[in-house]
Amino acid sequence: MNQHTRIDMIPFIDVAAQRRRLGKKIDDAIGRVTEHCQFINGPEVGELERALSEFCGARHSIGVASGTDALVLVLMAKGIGRGDAVICPSFTYAASPEAVALVGATPVFCEVDEKTFNVEPAGIERAVAAAERAGLKPKALMTVDLFGLPADYEAVRPIAEKHELYVIDDAAQAFGAQAKGRKIGTLAPVTTTSFFPAKPLGCYGDGGAVFTDDDALADTIRSLRNHGQGTDRYDNVRIGMTGRLDTIQAAVLIEKLKIFPDEIVARERIARRYNAALADVVTVPHLSNEHTCVWAQYTVRVSSGRRDALAATLRAQGIPTAQYYPVPSHRQGAYRDYPVAEGGLPVTEKLAGEVISLPMHAYLDDPTQDRIIGAVRGALRA
Ligand SMILES: Cc1ncc(COP(=O)(O)O)c(C=O)c1O
Repeated sequence: MNQHTRIDMIPFIDVAAQRRRLGKKIDDAIGRVTEHCQFINGPEVGELERALSEFCGARHSIGVASGTDALVLVLMAKGIGRGDAVICPSFTYAASPEAVALVGATPVFCEVDEKTFNVEPAGIERAVAAAERAGLKPKALMTVDLFGLPADYEAVRPIAEKHELYVIDDAAQAFGAQAKGRKIGTLAPVTTTSFFPAKPLGCYGDGGAVFTDDDALADTIRSLRNHGQGTDRYDNVRIGMTGRLDTIQAAVLIEKLKIFPDEIVARERIARRYNAALADVVTVPHLSNEHTCVWAQYTVRVSSGRRDALAATLRAQGIPTAQYYPVPSHRQGAYRDYPVAEGGLPVTEKLAGEVISLPMHAYLDDPTQDRIIGAVRGALRA
């Protein structure tokens, strides 16, 4: 007789567990919007923006349609376009260089630090040199707080100042993290985030936000997200776009933000538990006493020859993994013609071959995590 054993698949990110916790509060929040019917620019958008500012300390929080639109709106507001270079890491999600290319500017790829996966401060100047050699004007530096850990802004700032680079923090993965007690949203002159459902603070569709203390920039972005609106709806003072955050998504986020601090604590506990249990078999992620991470991904490194076998062994035991990012941006078909920092990006290339992310979310219980830990250890010991 054939025996079929059903493997219990562990979710990579368990959005449903959070949904169960929020229960009727989310139903009621969405219901209030479907009652008042102000689906665009409804009262919940302003309410969320105030709550986000209170949470992160930025003077202005501006709800927008996605993390990508947030980056595009910032670049548009700063007048960055053709002939300008924006330095950004290659080891990031496509949206970072994509936003630069969308406004007609040129992404110039820089190196990341092997330990933190974030912009390597010393590598910025090699990217500036590559931009200048290509006849471009280096205008901005887009830092990316990869996997939820803030970049090293103290080290980045003097180099950015020296080359007059405007720092844009792409914190799509890191909203809620801190550096020396200062929250994401206040570490750079402007910060963007994503509320994509799988993000640490996610909504039930697409959404994003821009954070800044700069009043003039905030005004311009508010106008740009609404077709370049001036004093009223039919006064168009600049070319903009449909870049607003939906009222229903704002209503969802208001409820989710209330439990977010608690979820950040849970994520940190789970990450530290993984680190303690896996440090002798894989290269575990960097833990810092000065920075907190919101663990958008829990990413370890194994030698490139063992990664696929590890993923396959885990999958056979019902444990999903992901590779963020197996092909760095400068190797992607869409981006391979853009300049790369002088000397190339050897660390980025190495990381792309070694990284593997394990299930991570605030509702990962100890027995499930132990199952994952046991499977990783078993696979690598075999
Ligand atoms: C680093 C980074 N930047 C930007 C984005 C874009 O966010 P969105 O998907 O909301 O457009 C993402 C989304 O995954 C991201 O990871």
